[in-house]
Amino acid sequence: MGRPTTPRPPAVPDDLTAADLMSVLPSTADVENGHLWIGGVDMVKLAREQGTALYVMDEASIRQQLRDYVKWTRFHWADVDVVYAGKAFMSLAMLKIVAEEDCCLDVSSGGELAFARRADFPMERIYVHGNNKTDLELAECLDAGVGRIVVDSFEEMERLSAMAEARGTQQRILIRVTPGIEADTHDFIMTGAEDSKFGFGMNEGLAMRAVKRALELPGLDLAGLHMHIGSQIFALQSFTKAIEVIVHFMDAIRDATGWVVRELDTGGGLGIAYGLPDEPSTIKDYGKVIVDGIKEHAETHGLPVPKMAVEPGRSIVANAGVTLYTVGSIKEIPNIRTYVAVDGGMSDNIRTSLYDAHYEALIANKADQPRTMVATIAGKHCESGDIVVTDAPLQDVEVGDIVCVCATGAYCQSMSSNYNKQVRPAVVMVNDGEARVIVRRETYDDLMKCELG
Ligand code: LLP
Repeated sequence: MGRPTTPRPPAVPDDLTAADLMSVLPSTADVENGHLWIGGVDMVKLAREQGTALYVMDEASIRQQLRDYVKWTRFHWADVDVVYAGKAFMSLAMLKIVAEEDCCLDVSSGGELAFARRADFPMERIYVHGNNKTDLELAECLDAGVGRIVVDSFEEMERLSAMAEARGTQQRILIRVTPGIEADTHDFIMTGAEDSKFGFGMNEGLAMRAVKRALELPGLDLAGLHMHIGSQIFALQSFTKAIEVIVHFMDAIRDATGWVVRELDTGGGLGIAYGLPDEPSTIKDYGKVIVDGIKEHAETHGLPVPKMAVEPGRSIVANAGVTLYTVGSIKEIPNIRTYVAVDGGMSDNIRTSLYDAHYEALIANKADQPRTMVATIAGKHCESGDIVVTDAPLQDVEVGDIVCVCATGAYCQSMSSNYNKQVRPAVVMVNDGEARVIVRRETYDDLMKCELG
């Protein structure tokens, strides 16, 4: 297994207060009257009003990240789509923000497309992903008039061609290739290596065959290539290497077919700070490596500079979000560890059990106090692996305290479940002193809405 998503800090009290944790908190985070505030809203008051567990998203941070991507990619080349990867966090309110910020949207299922349609997201700005799109999903995409479908297999290509032809349309497509790059991340979220369920490998000429077939088939308008080498990537060199390989492939395609790639989508993957030791690359540096890198290599190969797309998910929403919990019990096992049990867990954040992810936590009602103890924040599910944060430095904790787990805006709500018939938390968007419930808390009736007796 590759390195965990975040190096685990030593399990000792670190005397840090919320003021020291700003690098993992939303950009509007602040401490007033000993409480943590985000977006001008008191997190303690909000937790007590709305109940916990509660997801909180900071609108200003989300907009800032989207704007930074637009700014620092188009700074180098005007024709770049910033495609928000909806799988990181999707709600109707979020999609309205993405549309307003002039960004595109990556959907990877019929359900995500349904959200985009309900949000009136412009369909020409949709990129569709998935390694096994069903006929129904492809039909929905064609009927909706999505901008681009990223084709992942020969079977899909044949099916899509027939369906588009039957409708008398030409569907714009990109071909997903795996550039054979081992990205510097956790094995489970590494996707660009040769041994991957995604896309067409470049060895054995698979990707070249895919291009040739797409050029032959009716109903398809082949625009270019797509790659996604993984997620939570810190080393920008992984992208540099992948770009070198893919632009070289663009040259080989021109030699072999005479056809020239018009569009190149390099996927997402920029890492974020989950813990204080994390020092991710900036969006500004990422923009330079990707956009300038493609430009330079295209020029070296005498190829026209393609339209480009980047697909950030995590780096748009992760640090914009926190999860608030209430402490229900504290169990001290002498000389072993202290467990702080909260009213959520692996149903609202599976990342700790799934990836051994590490998070920073603090007590929102003691935000100005130093973290003088270490405790393991456990969930309420019937499973010993149900841990939210292992060995978290924390302020002196008491039952009833509000625990804030930082950087949970990405892949927490979107990967949530109803395990143990736990209702999913509400999502509150905060901005300029206002708190708006954008997703209400589930009810027991919601849990039973599909039951037919
Ligand atoms: N584009 C494609 C085709 C993707 O598959 C993904 C993520 C992205 C873009 C966005 O990548 P990002 O910028 O968020 O790294 N559940 C895992 C992450 C899985 C990522 C899946 N694909 C986690 O919680 O870490």
